Amino acid sequence: ALISMRQLLDHAAEHGYGVPAFNVNNQEQMRAIMEAADKTNSPVIVQGSAGARAYAGAPFIRHMILAAVEEWPHIPVVMHQDHGTSPGVCQRSIQLGFSSVMMDGSLMSDGKTPSSYDYNVDVTRKTVEMAHACGVSVEGELGVLGSLETGEAGEEDGVGAEGKLTTEQMLTNPEEAADFVNKTHVDALAIACGTSHGAYKFTRPPTDDILAIDRIKEIHARIPNTHLVMHGSSSVPQEWLEVINQYGGEIPETYGVPVEQIVEGIKYGVRKVNIDTDLRLASTGAIRRHLAMNPSNFDPRKFLAAATQAMTDICIARYEAFGTAGQA
Ligand code: G3H
Ligand code: 13P
Ligand code: NA
Ligand code: ZN
Repeated sequence: ALISMRQLLDHAAEHGYGVPAFNVNNQEQMRAIMEAADKTNSPVIVQGSAGARAYAGAPFIRHMILAAVEEWPHIPVVMHQDHGTSPGVCQRSIQLGFSSVMMDGSLMSDGKTPSSYDYNVDVTRKTVEMAHACGVSVEGELGVLGSLETGEAGEEDGVGAEGKLTTEQMLTNPEEAADFVNKTHVDALAIACGTSHGAYKFTRPPTDDILAIDRIKEIHARIPNTHLVMHGSSSVPQEWLEVINQYGGEIPETYGVPVEQIVEGIKYGVRKVNIDTDLRLASTGAIRRHLAMNPSNFDPRKFLAAATQAMTDICIARYEAFGTAGQA
């Protein structure tokens, strides 16, 4: 059944677990997420980005999620719109039937330029008023994702802020977070703690100076009843980087957010954990390996099935690690 984000995250807070929120663009990702949820009895958050809507079209994203709800009626599913750049974008998703939207007012509507605090409060509050009237949940974001290691925003493929950022911008301020939640009434708050989107988060395994889980603890201490969201939370599995590079890929050395650090965040109020890159890496590795080992194959179902299996394994591992398993 389709449920709202609020319902699911309230349950997660009550029972002390986190929920991975996986991005979906295609049927293979959708099936992998649902098969993993079915095997582990986990509730599901699937999210469509602007890039997903541009790739598959909003009706296909919507019907893919509805098809999953039909095929696995016993699994609760949140249909979430990722990184809305304006109240208007969120409104169109609500009209399409999304049960949750993210109004990312940390950036201007170009999705690149960091915004002022007042702008963020204004667009987020407007979105909350509209969404709540429709029974739809809202995720807001305070702070800008970026690398504490390099001081760069780390935008990839046109997603996220561009250029240099200050440490202040890249670490959500707990006092400001309290004021923001108070003024906007968001159901969940995405915070910045040194993670960034994509595969290139850290040039070395992260230490607490570049991945500030302590900041999450300080925010949670200030607003214990707010559900926190971690973006840029792929772990960038080294074993998949090796497979990709072994079979013709060229991905330089890079590190993601260790699962144990996310689990630590979940102890301190993190309820939604956004993951896209890990499924992309697993899928690319599995397809490269399958085609290299089966050079005469030309049936896409064979290599796409290998991709689906690789993604399912990642989803199962995250459901188990975050305590989502058994909560559906
Ligand atoms: O917000 C970032 C997500 O990984 C979505 O990426 O815009 O390429 O679909 P995308
Ligand atoms: P990753 O790029 O780390 O998977 O993050 C995805 C994300 O935050 C989507 O909103
Ligand atoms: Na989101
Ligand atoms: Zn994100």
